[in-house]
Amino acid sequence: MTSSHLWLPYSQMQTVPAPQMVTRTEGVRIYLADGRCLIDGTSSWWTACHGYNHPHIAAAVAAQLEQLPHVMLGGLVHKPVLDLSRRLAGLLPGDLDYVFFSESGSVSVEIALKMAVQFWINQGVQARSRFLSFQHAYHGDTFAAMSVCDPDKGMHRLLSGVLAQQLVVKLPRGAAEFTEFEQVVAKHAAELAAVIIEPLVQAAAGMKFHQPEVLAKITEIAARYDLLVIFDEITTGFGRTGTMFACEQAGVVPDIMTLSKALTGGTVPLAATIARRHVYESFLSDSIDQALVHGPTFCGNPMGCAAANASLDLFESEPRLEQVAAIEAGFEAGLAPCRGLAQVRDVRVKGAIGVVQLDRVPDLDALRQRFLEAGVWVRPFADVIYLMPPLVIGAEELDTLIQAVNRVVKDWSALPS
Ligand SMILES: Cc1ncc(COP(=O)(O)O)c(C=O)c1O
Repeated sequence: MTSSHLWLPYSQMQTVPAPQMVTRTEGVRIYLADGRCLIDGTSSWWTACHGYNHPHIAAAVAAQLEQLPHVMLGGLVHKPVLDLSRRLAGLLPGDLDYVFFSESGSVSVEIALKMAVQFWINQGVQARSRFLSFQHAYHGDTFAAMSVCDPDKGMHRLLSGVLAQQLVVKLPRGAAEFTEFEQVVAKHAAELAAVIIEPLVQAAAGMKFHQPEVLAKITEIAARYDLLVIFDEITTGFGRTGTMFACEQAGVVPDIMTLSKALTGGTVPLAATIARRHVYESFLSDSIDQALVHGPTFCGNPMGCAAANASLDLFESEPRLEQVAAIEAGFEAGLAPCRGLAQVRDVRVKGAIGVVQLDRVPDLDALRQRFLEAGVWVRPFADVIYLMPPLVIGAEELDTLIQAVNRVVKDWSALPS
């Protein structure tokens, strides 16, 4: 990369190709300084659910900036944060009613883990301080979040030796695996605070899907052994899997949920950790010692809350879930040609997520370059090419993305392996 003081995320700075210079965004389009325009197949790490620069969100953030850009949440509150917590509580299933705000997904996971451990400590149980998580999980880049990621294949594997050692198991699917899973849970229950899972879609570690029945059964077994259940809906939340929240498809309610990414429609950073009533009430006492002693500086930032409130308005007034269903149908039909290719291991679709898994890890830089040349912003990782476009994408633009994937995969498949 040419001289720069910028240290890029997830990049080997010695070899990373020069990033594209972006000058503006609009709808599902990213405009580059050299005049090119790309159709976005990633929603900028799965955030921009309403497309970029949605005028309703932009106006809400601009008005908030003018009136009250930020104020500490210690001793002070404001309407956007009160409105947003009430609206989220109303939207989320069951008694997921108590909303704690932070500024990034990883931090919301840290808070969820801390909440779970302290839930037990507040009841005089010190021993339940470990977590059960799953192979192929990804929950973020901070230390506790890294500890519940896949320790062997995940992107933090180099640090496994210094992370807290959690119980990371195979995600059970069939009857025999569930028997084994339950045995492991039974054996370790006394030391486990909670199980944490990305419901229905394990995203950043390989775009792997599981059935709602699997999620329901994991939840049921965890409850049988008194483990708290944490659903990390940072990626799946806000319509991506076909329902507003993935847990709805399994008909289960976690004890704690994390949200971020599409929470603000992808405009400004905001995250939330939401607790059910019994979790919240376990923190109530006369003593500060039993309180959740946590408070990010930008906790409940008014501009973030204004953006999130505006984003929720759009979910109410525009047909996002119908759009997701249309994208799903488009992926099912459009990606079918990839299914027949020998070098393609799997093609799978869930809501507005379309995945082509290759039989090996390709030259990612070369593939990304091919997508750029095709006029689309698609960023394969590991052995996976995926599309997660803004939910507002039109049929023609969706087809452009799908055909680009078909072409690039077909050409790649023709190369000698
Ligand atoms: C399921 C899940 N949890 C947590 C995170 C971390 O969120 P952030 O990047 O905002 O820290 C991600 C990010 O991709 C995610 O997909």
